[in-house]
Amino acid sequence: SDDIKKKLPLYNQKILVTAGPTYEAIDPVRFIGNHSSGKMGFALADELASLGADVTLIAGPTAQVSKYQSIKRINITSAADMLQQCLEHFPAVNACVMCAAVADYTPATVSAQKIKKHDGGLNIELKKTTDILKTLGQQKREGQVLVGFALETNNEEQYAIEKLQKKNLDLIVLNSLNDAGAGFKNDTNKVTLIDRDLHKTTFELKNKTEVAHDICIKLIELLKK
Ligand code: CTP
Ligand code: CA
Repeated sequence: SDDIKKKLPLYNQKILVTAGPTYEAIDPVRFIGNHSSGKMGFALADELASLGADVTLIAGPTAQVSKYQSIKRINITSAADMLQQCLEHFPAVNACVMCAAVADYTPATVSAQKIKKHDGGLNIELKKTTDILKTLGQQKREGQVLVGFALETNNEEQYAIEKLQKKNLDLIVLNSLNDAGAGFKNDTNKVTLIDRDLHKTTFELKNKTEVAHDICIKLIELLKK
């Protein structure tokens, strides 16, 4: 009932979540992608919705499905599509969690026809995509909470803190790829949360639903500030 909903910690909070990979077209039949399964972003969207939030989920190509019908899902393909949707929805939300594995580079031109093979190799020129999170960080209004992810293999905490500061984030979720069982395709993740005050919390290897819960607890704290 409505009375029960009003008691949930994220009641009345609009939250934008991005999830999954992006696909960058090379020609009509090929693309550059990555191994993101979308599991972490979908688990986050589910957990936020279960805590009462009004969730919009911008998803790249993924087989995941949401648990709750209340989650508004927007499907996109490329980094450019994701940027456009994020710019459209960010102004109206209280918080945004950027969980998607956005391509850093995209083909400089997309061939209108299928590229035929020839003798020798093939060079594809790439150009940088827009950093969506950094763009949102520049647009962030007083009171909005912006959360990013960082995937690192080395020098992890230093790189994560650099991203937190450079992109004007309130929280960064550092994903450790070092541990067996953590990362892209798995059902588990090992994360460290670092906030603006450089307050750090390291969690055990857990399933992604539990990781999503830990992130939500921290997000609730940040939304109260
Ligand atoms: N991100 C984004 N737009 C991009 C690339 C990344 O919004 N074009 C976001 C990701 O969704 C993530 C955060 O930025 O929340 C960090 O992504 P990551 O790949 O770890 O870092 P980058 O800044 O892309 O730097 P690098 O890949 O060189 O480590
Ligand atoms: Ca990147």
